[in-house]
Amino acid sequence: MARIPEETINRIRDAADILDVVSGYVQLKRRGRNWFGLCPFHQEKTPSFSINQQKQIFHCFGCGRGGNAITFVMELEKLEFVEAVQRLGERYGIPVELSGTTDPRRKATVQQVLDLCELAADSYRKNLQGSAGAGVRAYLEQRGITGSTQALFKIGYALPGWDHLLKAAGARKFSHEALNQSGLFIAGDKGPYDRFRSRIMFPITNIAGRVVAFGGRVFESDDPAKYVNSPETPVYRKGEVLYGLSLTRDHVRETETAIIVEGYLDLIQLYQAGIKNIVAVSGTALTERHARELRKLTGNVFLAYDGDDAGVRAAVRGGYTLLRGGLSPRVVNLPPDLDPDDWVRKEGPEPFLKAVADAGPLLEFHLSHFQGDLKETGDMRRFLDEILQELVQVPDPLVRELHLKKVADLTGVDERRLHETLQRIPRVRVRSEEDEAQPRKDRVIIEPTRSNKAQLALISLAFHEDDRLLNLLLDHAREELFTHPVLKNIWRVVVTALQQETIPEPGGIMDKLSSDDERQVLSQALMSEGLSADEAGQAGDVMPLAIDCLTLLHRDALQRQIDQRRQDLRRAEQQASQPPADIVAEVAALQRRLADLGEQFNKYRGG
Ligand code: UTP
Ligand code: MN
Repeated sequence: MARIPEETINRIRDAADILDVVSGYVQLKRRGRNWFGLCPFHQEKTPSFSINQQKQIFHCFGCGRGGNAITFVMELEKLEFVEAVQRLGERYGIPVELSGTTDPRRKATVQQVLDLCELAADSYRKNLQGSAGAGVRAYLEQRGITGSTQALFKIGYALPGWDHLLKAAGARKFSHEALNQSGLFIAGDKGPYDRFRSRIMFPITNIAGRVVAFGGRVFESDDPAKYVNSPETPVYRKGEVLYGLSLTRDHVRETETAIIVEGYLDLIQLYQAGIKNIVAVSGTALTERHARELRKLTGNVFLAYDGDDAGVRAAVRGGYTLLRGGLSPRVVNLPPDLDPDDWVRKEGPEPFLKAVADAGPLLEFHLSHFQGDLKETGDMRRFLDEILQELVQVPDPLVRELHLKKVADLTGVDERRLHETLQRIPRVRVRSEEDEAQPRKDRVIIEPTRSNKAQLALISLAFHEDDRLLNLLLDHAREELFTHPVLKNIWRVVVTALQQETIPEPGGIMDKLSSDDERQVLSQALMSEGLSADEAGQAGDVMPLAIDCLTLLHRDALQRQIDQRRQDLRRAEQQASQPPADIVAEVAALQRRLADLGEQFNKYRGG
């Protein structure tokens, strides 16, 4: 297996600050010593996901996950350790050389799929820039997309023909599995061929900026499909990815607002016009999962879909999806014959921005675009049905309630009547998207017994900069004292670091732990300690606590030994008439040690 030199890992760990890495994915707010945000690993409404920058660790008090920057990237992007380190290396400009093989077939399939996507993007890009791409370049320029915008969005061109990409990939020896799973080829009777032919190519990137899929717009061919998009692949889930977000995320965060558009070209045109707090879906309808991704960045979202009937219907549908996903969107009114791209190209950004500023809540948009006359009972009934069918699927009762009130206001229908009607509508969602979300991992629960608490406290204490304390731990906190298997494993790693005369760095220790359970427990211990230390102040003397914990654990350990020996004695007595003298003496010695337990710590007490 490919390996990365320890020194490189350390350099990357130093460069990849946990706060920086995580804030690429999660909106964080400072609270005391720590930073908090909505956990990216489980569904939640109030932030329990926390970062301690000083310790370089994260921990979620909700789902229990914890670790350092590297394990964060591993879990979130579903990468192996080596891949996560490479990813961070790329991001922080630290070259990662593997002391293994570079034959692509030896790499994990997912990694090969990513490599293939990158290779495809490069090759499409070269086509666009070459002589065969002149027509496409002229077309894009005529649509107002400048060369530098084309470069920024890595727009490319898939040549007419069946195997241009296939040949390029073949030369690089990718595995069959990777070719199959990449979504770039179609399996035909005579073998695979290029999926994208004679198309303007829009690479779709994941949140980390890696190309994971493509949208291809027809160009000079009689193919009836205007767009061909990548299918779902191991690295591309349509319902999760938002087109453009890796470029626009910071703008969304800064403006605390996201504008959602329908098309690749809408996004690109608006971005070029300076409207950068923007995302697009890619060849699919909005999902609740998209809503969740957005909610990590902002609660303020606008839908800016085409002004035609289809666009209005899609905006209403998408709006309710966002509502189910916990966002209350506003919907932008566009001129009936324009999409954002056309509008901004024709009139510049101002009219569009004004329409965004004027955008009203979803319900009002729905009402104002309803095809019917609300003075007619039948039409009113139809309108209310439409809305109630949507509202009944909103999981948050408060959101449901507030919208019901609003409907009552807007239509003049008594709120209680609406309520009764709502109650009678069956909730059609058999299974929500939320349920399908990643299987929840079991939390490790450390029973809060006195012994476990003392073990945990010792682990936390090992991270304090205090020589007397560290000597005490090295002398007396022996591995046998740790009776909980998870805590024992953590202690083993911690004490190894202590023996090398370093104060353990939480971030570094995380990598050395061998299981998720261990990372969960350690991050929780350190993070909780961080919270209480805020109140106590760091200055408080930690020695008495350490001595108390050690006393308790030594007493338990001695007691266990004594119990053991007594059992041995009883067994011996049943066989012989005389109790074996050596065991009797041993028990006596153990009991003396138990009585004198306090004394061995005397030299550590006081100043
Ligand atoms: P549009 O038809 O509005 O295309 O579809 P567009 O992006 O504005 O392109 P131009 O301006 O006509 O050249 C909007 C989005 O819907 C998806 C694509 O993501 C597209 O960007 N779409 C559209 C498809 O996935 N397949 C299609 O056949 C059409
Ligand atoms: Mn368009």
